[in-house]
Amino acid sequence: MAILSDALLTEAKTALPGQTGARILQEMDIAYSDGMARDMAPLYERVKSVIPSVEWPFFAPYIQAINDLKRERNAVILAHNYQTPEIFHGVADVVGDSLQLAIEAAKAEGDVIVQCGVHFMAETSKLLNPEKTVLIPDMGAGCSLADSITAKDVRALREAYPGVPIVTYVNTSAAVKAESDVCCTSSNAVKIVNGMGSDRVLCIPDEYLAQNIAREADVEVIAWKGRCEVHEQFTAEELQQYRTDDPGLRIIAHPECKPDVLDEADFSGSTSAMIKWVTDNQPDRVMMVTECSMSDNVAVENPNVNFVRPCNLCPHMKQITLPKILEALAFNRTEITVDAAISSKARAAVERMIELSR
Ligand code: 13P
Ligand code: SF4
Repeated sequence: MAILSDALLTEAKTALPGQTGARILQEMDIAYSDGMARDMAPLYERVKSVIPSVEWPFFAPYIQAINDLKRERNAVILAHNYQTPEIFHGVADVVGDSLQLAIEAAKAEGDVIVQCGVHFMAETSKLLNPEKTVLIPDMGAGCSLADSITAKDVRALREAYPGVPIVTYVNTSAAVKAESDVCCTSSNAVKIVNGMGSDRVLCIPDEYLAQNIAREADVEVIAWKGRCEVHEQFTAEELQQYRTDDPGLRIIAHPECKPDVLDEADFSGSTSAMIKWVTDNQPDRVMMVTECSMSDNVAVENPNVNFVRPCNLCPHMKQITLPKILEALAFNRTEITVDAAISSKARAAVERMIELSR
């Protein structure tokens, strides 16, 4: 059964951004009502601490329409921990850090995967599911790390460091992965670097992640000069100031931060490791030194923890919105394809990572 008319499909091709989602809701006859408010009250009860009541009438119809269309299309929505709460708690089937999303992508059932995250994550899902339709709601959702290095750069590194294994962070294009020996994420990087069986390893493209890995690894780590534009903004001085102002504050940081920032933290780990730390430790007050939507998402499940929120937003993650997810499901917008010449080599690097992380 087609939910959408041919007229709307035609209009969608020419509509201004942001207008089509509302038209889809009209066509599906989905609008906020007292009945919807009642039906969705249990979900709103969960998220009301992070979604103001004035915003809920805007989000709720999209959440309902997306969940309906998702069932009709036999689709699965994978969402990174940095997605906003209405996506993370409202429509995602699987949430997690980069490694968890890659593992879940490999196991994904359904005909369609909608990746709520950035482009390299959707590409990874496509590599692991070449037969499935993989959609990203906004093709412009990039990443400063992925943009910092090209396949040509990796070939030049291989020439400059003959025989040195290349461990590549998943935050890279498929073309870069294809030139690499294995991928890693922040949650498995030390294990993978140590497992290379070499006393020198190239760890690309995140300079700070490489420096942080080098402090824990048993081998020499050679870095590239890429940076995460979100995490590079945090400084050790600001963390010291937060501690001076509030000595009871616990600070946890992502390893894409500078090493001296991690020195100020009580714990560092991938986004999911940070969430686990909060859940296990239930600190009275905590600051998560990472992208700021994550505190909202974690706060929903941890009502007794107070979050101090320095807000550094990832502009790429924030390209993904409920109206665009609805449009993605309605119009297969926008489908990820990976060049056949690079997909098998890139897939091998990701699959090797999954294998070595077990
Ligand atoms: P993880 O979720 O793997 O920790 O990565 C963080 C990140 O920056 C993803 O873009
Ligand atoms: Fe890339 Fe940093 Fe944004 Fe993650 S938070 S997608 S590493 S720019």
